[in-house]
Amino acid sequence: MAFGRIPRFSPSFSPVEAAISLRWLAQGTLDGAADTAKVTEWERSFADYIGARNAVMVPSARFGFYLLLKALGVGEGDEVIVPGLTYFAIPAMVPLLGAKPVFADVGLRSHVLDPEAFRAAITPRTKAVVPTHLFGTPCDMEAIRTIAREHNIEVIEDCAQSTGARSRGQRVGHLGDHAYYTFGLTKNITTLSGAMVTTDNDQVAQRLRTELRNAGPTSRRKLAKEAVTGLAMWAATHPGLYWATVHPAVVLGNKMGEDPIHDRFGEAERRYDEVPEYYYSAGRARAVQAAVGLHQLSRIDDLNGARIRNGRHLDGALAHVPGLTTPEYPPGSEPIYMSFVVHHPQRDQLMAELRARGVDTTVGYMSAFGRHPLFEEYAAECPNAQRAFNELLHLPVHPNLSESDRDHLVESVRAACLSLA
Ligand SMILES: Cc1ncc(COP(=O)(O)O)c(C=O)c1O
Repeated sequence: MAFGRIPRFSPSFSPVEAAISLRWLAQGTLDGAADTAKVTEWERSFADYIGARNAVMVPSARFGFYLLLKALGVGEGDEVIVPGLTYFAIPAMVPLLGAKPVFADVGLRSHVLDPEAFRAAITPRTKAVVPTHLFGTPCDMEAIRTIAREHNIEVIEDCAQSTGARSRGQRVGHLGDHAYYTFGLTKNITTLSGAMVTTDNDQVAQRLRTELRNAGPTSRRKLAKEAVTGLAMWAATHPGLYWATVHPAVVLGNKMGEDPIHDRFGEAERRYDEVPEYYYSAGRARAVQAAVGLHQLSRIDDLNGARIRNGRHLDGALAHVPGLTTPEYPPGSEPIYMSFVVHHPQRDQLMAELRARGVDTTVGYMSAFGRHPLFEEYAAECPNAQRAFNELLHLPVHPNLSESDRDHLVESVRAACLSLA
């Protein structure tokens, strides 16, 4: 702990990855072939890590999801079941194909798709379901897969927040039919920018590659900017700097009713008229992303291991705090604690109390979509998603928490909850 201040987040990107980025970005002569060889090595390594036959690098998870739906022939009049608590960009892709997103509720404390809500949402038009392993918590994939098989529904796992997590000993991403992941700077592993699709279906993988065949490479400038941002994030969340720079800015912003970190990294929720053109024209992964990804993959089990140690500690230490509800995990779930999400009926006051004690928290970027203005015409009953959305708070659980950070965090949460009781 540095000066009693704990950041809400710290990146997996480190000066080692910054040096790798610089080295590959500096090779101005890199031609397409060199890019292709390195990206293929990264895709192969990632596929092996997940246990899948194919891995295809894509510009973003939402585009990977869109391409998967397209490759599966999802179109006019079809339905795709998505959880009522998720990231807006996923349901926003479905209408682009003429299909309908159908929201199904989540477990109140697990935050992931409830298998019975999934079953209840099925109609003869259901073509796919998206079990989202939200906050690093794997869904009950045995139940979801069994129901999906009975109804001939494709299972597309959303692993955007769960790369490396397991369910009943098996890695997520290989528990359904296809999966997507994302590797932005705030994820548990990063490739600067970009995402991945994995599938055992060679034909589907080939269709994705065909869609991407004409894409030019992601711009070197954008990737250089990401590398600099990643290094700045590492420095700003470093104990020696955080207390003196970011924390005061967050406290000040909060007093003015703003959240500077959310403002900097958040994305406005919106619907799309079409898939952004640059995904097709300039979305091909470059060697620098692959090189960073390969190095991150060599560290992923350590990074996730640190999260798991922190998360299990919080599960135990915060289990009986007045007013506070800790997460639940579906049967067989082996979470990686991408986030540690508690509920409190006075969530905003709890946040302020914790900030006063030097602990920064966030309400995160997910939304409840049962009754959301963005998807008014697809309204559905998702009471758990709505309640979770109103009450949830992300506590720091990142790999750089020290033991004294954890102690300070636990003591602060206990004291803050007692003061609100
Ligand atoms: C659960 C979930 N799904 C999908 C996405 C979309 O990822 P991308 O920004 O790569 O499209 C995100 C982004 O953070 C996410 O958290």
